[in-house]
Amino acid sequence: MSERRLTLPLPHAAQNQVLRDHARFNVIIAGRRFGKSMLGIRLVADTLLEGKRVAWISPTYKMLSDIYRTTADLLAPVLVSRNASERRLEVFGGGVLDMWSLENPESIRGRHYRRMIVDEAALAKNTLADTWNLILRPTLIDDKGDAYFLTTPKGRGDLMTMYEMGRAPEHPDWASWHFTSMDNPYLPAGELDSMRASMPARAIEQEIEGRFIDEVLGALWTYKLIDATRWHGAAPDMARIVVAVDPAVSSNRDSDETGIVACGMGRDSHEGFVLADASGTYSPETWARRAVELYRSLEADKIVAEANQGGEMVQYTIRTIDRNVPVRLVHATRGKAIRAEPIVALYEQGRIHHVGLLPELETQMTMWSPVEDRESPDRVDAMVWGFSDLMLKAGLAWTPEQHAAYARGDDLYGPEWGDPEGWVPPGFTPPPAAGESAAPPKTAQERYEEEVAAQDAERIRQMVSRGW
Ligand SMILES: Nc1ncnc2c1ncn2[C@@H]1O[C@H](COP(=O)(O)OP(=O)(O)OP(=O)(O)O)[C@@H](O)[C@H]1O
Ligand SMILES: [Mg+2]
Repeated sequence: MSERRLTLPLPHAAQNQVLRDHARFNVIIAGRRFGKSMLGIRLVADTLLEGKRVAWISPTYKMLSDIYRTTADLLAPVLVSRNASERRLEVFGGGVLDMWSLENPESIRGRHYRRMIVDEAALAKNTLADTWNLILRPTLIDDKGDAYFLTTPKGRGDLMTMYEMGRAPEHPDWASWHFTSMDNPYLPAGELDSMRASMPARAIEQEIEGRFIDEVLGALWTYKLIDATRWHGAAPDMARIVVAVDPAVSSNRDSDETGIVACGMGRDSHEGFVLADASGTYSPETWARRAVELYRSLEADKIVAEANQGGEMVQYTIRTIDRNVPVRLVHATRGKAIRAEPIVALYEQGRIHHVGLLPELETQMTMWSPVEDRESPDRVDAMVWGFSDLMLKAGLAWTPEQHAAYARGDDLYGPEWGDPEGWVPPGFTPPPAAGESAAPPKTAQERYEEEVAAQDAERIRQMVSRGW
């Protein structure tokens, strides 16, 4: 039998420290280009060549494709088979590597591994601690497997807690390391210095020094901001409540979550309250049911749903659960970050409160950096739709230009106001023009009934125009 030889780069000194002093569960925090992925591939190869099963986990399918190619190329001399669509590599001697994305961690259930590498764990979009405890950790039971989290930090979060476990003597199963980009002796001389010269101090701290900093660079919200206005105890009385829905396109393997967030406007304060988050990965029937349940349990005024993906189907899906729920379909015409900005301004003015803790929504809010990631998370989208509906049109968050237009009596409800349908919010009464006496204001109930009647009229008009 001919000999097969696998040649991997020799680990550098810092990588060697981990290989030598590892515990069962290991957290390696390091700057960019430290050699995290290379260390991961070395750890994979060691276990594969013992004929064991290994899992590689990356935060996104995109990152997974890149690392699949690199790993397959490096392991080429010992590969028996490679399957790009399943992202599975098999080596001589029976060792198997499965590669998974954290975008759909559920699919890992039922497997068992001798070793697991979680690359760039800090970029996980879902709550890392839950994913680890409920899904990843159980796959290491049968073979008494070990795990390595290799990552550059991003803000603080579950990963920081895991890192601290590795430092604490009461968790002998865990070990943690901290390295900087400079610890990789193989980076071309001068590269890191020129990178430093063009980076803000906070970015250097995180990306090169590999330190946990308070905020995610470029994120629109920070925990400090959310904590500062958090509402403790029961929510006050609400003037209006909407259940906002950002439906996922499908409930397939790669599909997103459907964001379902209940937002309210306080009766006395006219401030915003996030009341509940019922988001999740659902089939259309299930998200509609969840949204309607939330609508009923909170006695909400309506459901606001983004209709960019599903169009009329979105409305139809909700109607199959309850045909009497008022639904307002909204269409995104502007970028997600632009839509979110006025809502961020409301948080900064202390006018939006989270009632209690909303861990998953808050993780997404503080992790999403629009500069790095154009796609905003679904819970955040839903929340932004909710408060756009409740608070932006009521003149509470207008820009000076919008106030000026309002004073001139311009039409306030068009695409430039983020409202392509020209919808006039119930509860909004323009003040009378100078010299004109005001008509007696309508009650909230009257305005609401008018709105529902107008929606019904529109539905009937559409049915008739379709020849129904
Ligand atoms: N032991 C080593 N010997 C030689 N080159 C190495 C070694 N470890 C890493 N490198 C090289 O250093 C560079 C960075 O390595 P790698 O991609 O593993 O780093 P990383 O920390 O995962 O980077 P990123 O932060 O971009 O994900 C690569 O060019 C890699 O080939
Ligand atoms: Mg890497």
